[in-house]
Amino acid sequence: MLLRASHEVKIFDVGPDTGGDEDRMISIVRDADALISLLDNPVTRRVLSSCPDLKIVAQCAVGYDNIDLEAAEERRIVVTHTPGVLTDATADFTLALLLAVARHVCEADTYVRDGHFRRWETLLLHGMELRGKVLGIVGFGRIGQAVARRALGFGMKIVYHSRQRANPTTERMMSANHVSMDELLTASDVVSIHCPLNEASRHLIGASAFSRMKSTALLINTGRGPIVDEAALAKAIQLGELAGAGIDVYENEPIVHPGLLEHPRVILTPHLASATVEARTAMAAMCSEAILATLGGNTEIPYRLV
Ligand code: DGY
Repeated sequence: MLLRASHEVKIFDVGPDTGGDEDRMISIVRDADALISLLDNPVTRRVLSSCPDLKIVAQCAVGYDNIDLEAAEERRIVVTHTPGVLTDATADFTLALLLAVARHVCEADTYVRDGHFRRWETLLLHGMELRGKVLGIVGFGRIGQAVARRALGFGMKIVYHSRQRANPTTERMMSANHVSMDELLTASDVVSIHCPLNEASRHLIGASAFSRMKSTALLINTGRGPIVDEAALAKAIQLGELAGAGIDVYENEPIVHPGLLEHPRVILTPHLASATVEARTAMAAMCSEAILATLGGNTEIPYRLV
């Protein structure tokens, strides 16, 4: 609405199932002044250099690993994203996945639907209580900290590993200890991923990480799929090196490793963590604001990355 008042807006579906490759992106964006990109749109150097009029890429997500920032900067194309407004939605969903895995919620639902519920049973689907358990948070930015605040309410203890250490007040308020990645893996009952995807974090959690984790531990990933080596995760779950996983993001979205699909201790959701009406509405508004500011020649562009 905001944009349509002053600009011509065209909407295209560019995703893996609609041939979401560079050539299709170029054919769509070639004449555009502004692009609102989604996280599975390849905004590569080749795409950016094929769009002479492009002034801004407004990424409708907080993550921006699909965009070549260096190429954008070289071509003086502004890139913005949507931090902040999806923090609570993503943190809520992380806890939803954690509770669902820890307490077998999906298995229990299937059990009832399949007609197995005949009586209360003392030994049925025992789960893991969260109080006193160690939550290891990989990446302690806005979302990691919002997850920590929620987990504190459940009586969990927080350790984290992050490139940048949180300030002492934040650490004190959350009784959060900054630890090495190795310590986090060995000490945690739950490992939750909230760091950005980059070359340093790609496959950060793979076979060697699983061999360090407790066999009773759970893995939750609402960050980015390629941070976890999915084949190694499937193997670890099958071998009982890990007790369960809640996965919202995938290495090759929307493809899911078959070893994960068949395992009842893995809960799989379709990249939903920010999917609340509130968050998605705010994300769209932020993209529009950034585009209007850029095309209007403002020097202060909100949510700017480059
Ligand atoms: C993001 O904003 O990066 C999320 O993955 C979208 O849900």
